[in-house]
Amino acid sequence: MSSILVVDFGSQYSTLIARRLREIGIYSEIAAPDAAADSLPEAAGLILSGGPASVFEDSAPRLDARLLERHIPILGICYGMQLLAHQLGGEVAACREKRGYGPACIRAAASGEALFGKDSEGRKMDVWISHGDQVARLPDGFTAIASSDSAPIAAMANHERRIYGVQFHPEVTHTAGGLDLLRRFAAETCRISCDWSMPAFIEQACGEIRTRIGSERVLLALSGGVDSAVAAQLIERAAPGKMICVFIDNGLLRAGEAAAVESAFRPGLGERLIVVDAADHFLQALAGVTDPEQKRRTIGHAFIEVLKREAGRAGEINWLAQGTIYPDVIESAGEKTGTAASIKSHHNVGGLPAELGMNLLEPLRRLFKDEVRALGSELGLDRQTLHRHPFPGPGLAVRVLGELTEKRLAIARQADAIYMHELRESGWYEKVAQAFAVLLPVSTVGVMGDSRTYAEAVALRAVATDDFMTADWARLPTDLLARTAARIANEVQGVNRVVYDITSKPPATVEWE
Ligand code: XMP
Repeated sequence: MSSILVVDFGSQYSTLIARRLREIGIYSEIAAPDAAADSLPEAAGLILSGGPASVFEDSAPRLDARLLERHIPILGICYGMQLLAHQLGGEVAACREKRGYGPACIRAAASGEALFGKDSEGRKMDVWISHGDQVARLPDGFTAIASSDSAPIAAMANHERRIYGVQFHPEVTHTAGGLDLLRRFAAETCRISCDWSMPAFIEQACGEIRTRIGSERVLLALSGGVDSAVAAQLIERAAPGKMICVFIDNGLLRAGEAAAVESAFRPGLGERLIVVDAADHFLQALAGVTDPEQKRRTIGHAFIEVLKREAGRAGEINWLAQGTIYPDVIESAGEKTGTAASIKSHHNVGGLPAELGMNLLEPLRRLFKDEVRALGSELGLDRQTLHRHPFPGPGLAVRVLGELTEKRLAIARQADAIYMHELRESGWYEKVAQAFAVLLPVSTVGVMGDSRTYAEAVALRAVATDDFMTADWARLPTDLLARTAARIANEVQGVNRVVYDITSKPPATVEWE
């Protein structure tokens, strides 16, 4: 099988590269810089990811020279390009004007056909950049194959050695034509056939699950969301009857959620579905907690306590399965490399199995959200389950900013239910990747009838994204927003103002906490 090795220098986007490659049917593996030389020896190409370091730092990760000795095509992205320039005798300098973050426009040169396609000369491309340094002088044998207003060397090539570099990120969806660039690099330069598929993944994943668990039993923490539902389906396919699912109602769920989970999973799992009402436990633990990370930690601990108790009741179980997906892993800490900056801690990653004395089974760990949906569909899950918006593990706790009280949770729940209803009625629910209401920790002045009100404010959020690594705010129709705002302000007691969040990710994240 032809494949590509991605060397992860710690960018938030590193793993997107592997995900994009799978999307075009190419198997890839990701390796840390110091492990890369010993990884995937059969790889037909190398991609060097971006990363937060600067080549000038003593501790900056380097490209192992043994990888260059493989003489396979290389594509360096952002830091990967700077590293190639630096290590091959060129020069890297800090960006003079402003650090480059966000959208930019590049112009391809005639010599850029290998990356930009035929007749590339002068072609403009909207790209996404995120860097503080750039290549100032090319190494010998390289030419500049694209430029932008702020970067004369926005991409470089050494055609003879088949080494390329781009200062922008072809792996993010906001780079138009980024996927074509990767496909061109893989298919034309690395000469890989693009035939990796989801059925092949299922076969491989089921085999791995069976090999790992043998005849032992598995406990799965079911959240009712897409990820754990797909994980459950996959494990059931791999090892029928070996799994027990625990659904913990932590009191931080959306309206009607616990009942929906019960009715969706009881028929298939029967006695193997255990529903636990632990709302009091969680809310007591969260009393007075306002810091987002403290909330996550508190919920994580409470979750472990409850799961531990349930696991104890279920008899001997050696495996804990979780629907952890790639973005959870990356955004928690930068998985293997430990180099990506930590944005938010996700309580469904790490730590847990050791506490429970179990081994961890995370069959979706390498998949992105849209891949999880494709997998679920392949496994026969119904459309409604597959197209539910993701809901974070800490639930409404990170959508009720400030202190969590039963009253404030009820306000957020009711506002959210109105918003979801209006989205569904208007056909917009499935057009956005995720939408939710957030109860803000501010009170504002309003007027109702002839009286002054001083009540809380709700923010509505809706985002368009394929992979949740980057996201754009959704352009919902104004009449839909107006109707939703009017209903929330009129029907939800304690709310007198509704605002709409128009920030993208980056610089914001999807959730407010
Ligand atoms: P952010 O806010 O990090 O969200 O841009 C990206 C996606 O991850 C979800 N999210 C979480 N999911 N536990 C989860 O299981 C968490 O702690 C958590 N925080 C964010 C978020 O809803 C979005 O889909």
